[in-house]
Amino acid sequence: MICKWDSVDFECLKRSLLNVLESIDFNQKWFKIALGFVGFNPVFWNVVARLEYGTRFLTRLAGGARQGCYLLALTIFSLGVARDLCFEWSLRSQPVSAVLNQELVKNVGRVCIGVGQLLVVTSMYQLGITGTYLGDYFGILMDNIVTAFPFNVSNNPMYHGSTLSFLGYSLLQGKPAGLVITLFVHTMYSLALKFEEPFTAKIYAQRDAQRAKKD
Ligand SMILES: *[C@@H]1O[C@H](CO)[C@@H](O)[C@H](O)[C@H]1NC(C)=O
Repeated sequence: MICKWDSVDFECLKRSLLNVLESIDFNQKWFKIALGFVGFNPVFWNVVARLEYGTRFLTRLAGGARQGCYLLALTIFSLGVARDLCFEWSLRSQPVSAVLNQELVKNVGRVCIGVGQLLVVTSMYQLGITGTYLGDYFGILMDNIVTAFPFNVSNNPMYHGSTLSFLGYSLLQGKPAGLVITLFVHTMYSLALKFEEPFTAKIYAQRDAQRAKKD
């Protein structure tokens, strides 16, 4: 099913959209569990990081800020792996949509995966473990704001890269259920940023004020 794009064919667009929506098994167990992880993970790391900032409970538990941050990093990473596995298991038995099952869509998917993974890997390389996993909540700050790639193309390459990867795998497999999960990933990351960005800005502003005093 391919619509003609030279004259906008609303009937065909409607049929395509219906085809896509009908190809989603909303009741599948792994689909629901994947959505659960997508929703839970950012809430979890924001709550835990704020608690750490307020009480230093992880620093005390692990015997140091850096160790505490590594502990949180390991936990967040594991939750991410669990989420990705559920996504994978969910897509495995979700229907393929005829609309998405085209070579062009697959190629777009491949590009999204490539760009997404590039953003994730280079972001991790630039920030290191503590920079990636909420080190600022532990009082571990970067000396300078990183402006090199991928930060010259995205403010949040980790989130954008991860979202692009979900999008890419969904398109590559032609499974609209994956697009629903991707949309939810995007929503949760956008929400998370509303909490994280002002907080990070505040912590760095405090540090800069301290530095200015010393000078
Ligand atoms: C970002 O940096 C990379 C590597 O230094 C460079 O190739 C690219 O052109 C830059 N992109 C923008 C938009 O400045």
